[in-house]
Amino acid sequence: MENKDDLGKLVSAVTVYLDELRTSGVEGLPFGKSAEQVKSGADGIKGETLDDIRAELGDCCCCSLGETRTNLVFGVGNPHADIVFVGEAPGRDEDLKGEPFVGEAGQILTRMITRMGLTRQDVYICNVLKCRPPNNRNPHADEIEKCSPFMLRQVRAIGPKAIVALGTFASQTLLANREPIGRLRGRFHDYHGVPLMPTFHPSYLLRNRGNNDLLWTVWEDMVQVLNLLKMPVPEVKRQGKG
Ligand code: URA
Repeated sequence: MENKDDLGKLVSAVTVYLDELRTSGVEGLPFGKSAEQVKSGADGIKGETLDDIRAELGDCCCCSLGETRTNLVFGVGNPHADIVFVGEAPGRDEDLKGEPFVGEAGQILTRMITRMGLTRQDVYICNVLKCRPPNNRNPHADEIEKCSPFMLRQVRAIGPKAIVALGTFASQTLLANREPIGRLRGRFHDYHGVPLMPTFHPSYLLRNRGNNDLLWTVWEDMVQVLNLLKMPVPEVKRQGKG
């Protein structure tokens, strides 16, 4: 700023501009949000922690799932994890326990994490939806719209080096597209600067139990993640064709 006159002119121009916005019905501006945050739909405050986000969720009843759940399932693991796994929504076991991926599909995910040479405490695990859809039906669009910003904020608070999106809903929500998982998986996508690997959902592996090709496909996706992060890749012997 050259001098006080220039500063005065700038202040009055901004004041006029803000008055015009107010009279045209704008009640607030996204102060403090970067264009990236606005684009990602991840509201919230820069520097917020997982505890801040959990506190804000409280006893959330933003959608009807809040009325039928037993427990809100927030997420578990390392708040500073290098890898975040994002699933779809809690099932019956998760709803009862309040922890993601603890049922049969969860055991498949846990085995995959172990095979990667990691534990559930090393990574972070959460879902697009925090509450169980009745009878494990697919999430509805309005539920994803209301709930997913909390997951996006969790990812931002953790700041991982890689994200693994498990299945269609997680992949499409994070990437804001409608591509089928079969076309998305197996290669890295960009989630606001963080490499994101979509892969098949553990429930899909469960429904296709015995299909070792599918299991191997997911393993190869995980090997790409380990290689990207320069983590050791444990040797895994391929089982017979399933
Ligand atoms: N399926 C999911 O997507 N998430 C869970 O937590 C359990 C099963």
